[in-house]
Amino acid sequence: MICYNEQEKIFHLKTCRTSYIMGVYENTLLHLYWGDALETGCETFAQMLQARGRSFCATDMPDGLSTDTLPMEFPTFGSADLRTPALHVRYADGSRITRLTYDSYRILDGKPALERLPATYAEAGDDVQTLEITLCDTYSGLRVVLSYGVFHTMDAITRSVRVENGGSDSVTLLNVMSACLDFQQLGMEMLHLPGAWARERFPERVPVMRGKMTVDSLRGASSALHNPFAALLEPDTTERHGRVWGMNLVYSGNFTAGAEAEPYGCTRAFIGIHPFDFTWNLAPGESFQSPEAVLVFSANGIGGMSRIFHRLYRTRLCRGAFRDSERYALINNWEATYFNFNSDKIAHIAEKAASVGLDLMVLDDGWFGHRDNDHSSLGDWYVYKKKLPEGLDGLAEKVNNMGMRFGLWFEPEMISEDSDLYRAHPDWCLHVAGRPRTPSRNQLILDLSRKDVCDYIIETISGVLKSAPIAYVKWDMNRNMSEVGSALLPAEQQGEVYHRYMLGLYRCLEAITSAFPQVLFESCSGGGGRFDPGMLYYMPQTWTSDDTDAVERLMIQYGTSICYPYSSMGCHVSAVPNHQVGRVTPIRMRGHVAMPGQLGYELDLNKLTDDEIEEVKQQVKEYKQLGELFHQGDLYRLKNPDEGPVTVLLFVSPDQCKAAFCLYVTKAMANAPHLRIRLDGLDATAQYRDTATGEIYSGSVLMHVGLPCICDADYKSEIRVFEKL
Ligand code: DGJ
Repeated sequence: MICYNEQEKIFHLKTCRTSYIMGVYENTLLHLYWGDALETGCETFAQMLQARGRSFCATDMPDGLSTDTLPMEFPTFGSADLRTPALHVRYADGSRITRLTYDSYRILDGKPALERLPATYAEAGDDVQTLEITLCDTYSGLRVVLSYGVFHTMDAITRSVRVENGGSDSVTLLNVMSACLDFQQLGMEMLHLPGAWARERFPERVPVMRGKMTVDSLRGASSALHNPFAALLEPDTTERHGRVWGMNLVYSGNFTAGAEAEPYGCTRAFIGIHPFDFTWNLAPGESFQSPEAVLVFSANGIGGMSRIFHRLYRTRLCRGAFRDSERYALINNWEATYFNFNSDKIAHIAEKAASVGLDLMVLDDGWFGHRDNDHSSLGDWYVYKKKLPEGLDGLAEKVNNMGMRFGLWFEPEMISEDSDLYRAHPDWCLHVAGRPRTPSRNQLILDLSRKDVCDYIIETISGVLKSAPIAYVKWDMNRNMSEVGSALLPAEQQGEVYHRYMLGLYRCLEAITSAFPQVLFESCSGGGGRFDPGMLYYMPQTWTSDDTDAVERLMIQYGTSICYPYSSMGCHVSAVPNHQVGRVTPIRMRGHVAMPGQLGYELDLNKLTDDEIEEVKQQVKEYKQLGELFHQGDLYRLKNPDEGPVTVLLFVSPDQCKAAFCLYVTKAMANAPHLRIRLDGLDATAQYRDTATGEIYSGSVLMHVGLPCICDADYKSEIRVFEKL
């Protein structure tokens, strides 16, 4: 619901549990509040705003006030506000001053799509409205349209910005944040998701220091090192209690997210495309659309925030036939064979996989060109006949005859120097003429800012998908960007290449995924190096990490679940000793850790013992029974892996009729103290039956007394299911 109080000039955006309030004060748009829901219609500036003149602040507002200390909704550079700006523009005369004043607003039902960019969406009948507020710089003719998507029941607000050049000269955008939030409080903490290859998204929580802190990526991908997510919290906020304000950028390229604590009681948070090495030329009449920022407030702790993100992303970010349906339990040959396979080997793996009930055989890297290692062939998307003499269609048919679907790996954005494509088009990669091109994993990156390169990708990948019954695609991306230049753009537009690349990538993804709606797409970037909402808009699942060790995965999946639902995480059971850390864990625990995600196996099942195969059969069966609960249910993290050797997850169906309690012990303890885990999210007045033992519990006992757990063995795990009577 969006209300405008004419008299006070106050906008009140209300979701079921939150309010977001802005007001026009002396023609300037101020941010007044974001938090627990307030009654509408009774807010006044006098009550919402604390303001006084300060020495050393330029007075651009009446009564000795300054935009340098007022809570601004969309701060700009060049006038009195000397904090981090949300907008920085260079004009034709070389000046860089923008002062935005309020112009107008409009309220729309639903939510318009963002031009060429992924975003959350509304469906017919949803209680979603959009507010557009237009601000103007009268001196230059620049117009800024701030859009707010208000998801009432989903309890989330989205923000994006469109900058329009209404002047008569070209301007250069230097910085356009998607959202900026001035909190009228200090002493907050920041939660973010730093990582690296094979240890992505380990949550870190730090006090917001006086000054500025940011997390960011300048790697041409959202990256494994940081995620385009940051939340501010009050210091007493925990997993289950307290206030948290989360921001997540629907974008897969360079970003910045951060907070600046200033001396007068305000903390400014911001998120958007990274301004470093970014420029965008805007001719008269042209406009620039920023990516969308998703904003989630919860008064129910970090867990409450995660559940809101999860529901929104599961249902109004992911799209297509696989959004709501159960996906495939798969087998992937990568860790089983790496590059060393032929069609007999793959068929042998597939046969065993079919016998345990798996749905899909995925053929990973190495099926094309003459690729026997990572030195060649990226870009040459035709079959490597030495390995697959019967072709993709022949192999796919063989797999289909076993009762399984067939899936295929691609790395469409890349080019090997040893490839026919590179020999034909050496200028198709990102590069700067006359300078060396730095390889990473022996490969260069195609220049997706170019239309002809994107056309090639769309055409070739589509050609392969048409050539055989391919039911699944793994879209990989195994390096970050260097020498970011394009052979086609003029000098003054080279600062646009990073963002034009993302627009090109999104165009390819839109074209290919919409042409093949029956294909399930999974994104990947050397594991989880591009796990972001931008990719989830096109592909409903992402390979979470190249680290498949069950113990490490508990942490990686925990960090990922801070913002992203389990339904979006590709999670595989692999061989022991584990290939990344050498740890030996039982197949039971490996299965239990992978099962809440999109389950897969990434090993040669022929090498397992009979007992292990029986366990795998059981796991696949259980997964098919519980998949809907894991993927559509609400997640309660009852114990997190950074708290000690016990991790507990609880998935509760939306109607509270069914719950899965997943317990993992990573380290046994001698003479361990009693441990009780209190459940959450159940119907306190109902009775629940433990489906394995038949024991009946009241919901209130499960939630207030809890279940006893015994930490008496390393790598112990169990999944207990409770059904409402
Ligand atoms: C990186 C991925 O994360 C792996 O799963 C695998 O597909 C390799 N690339 C193949 O090169």
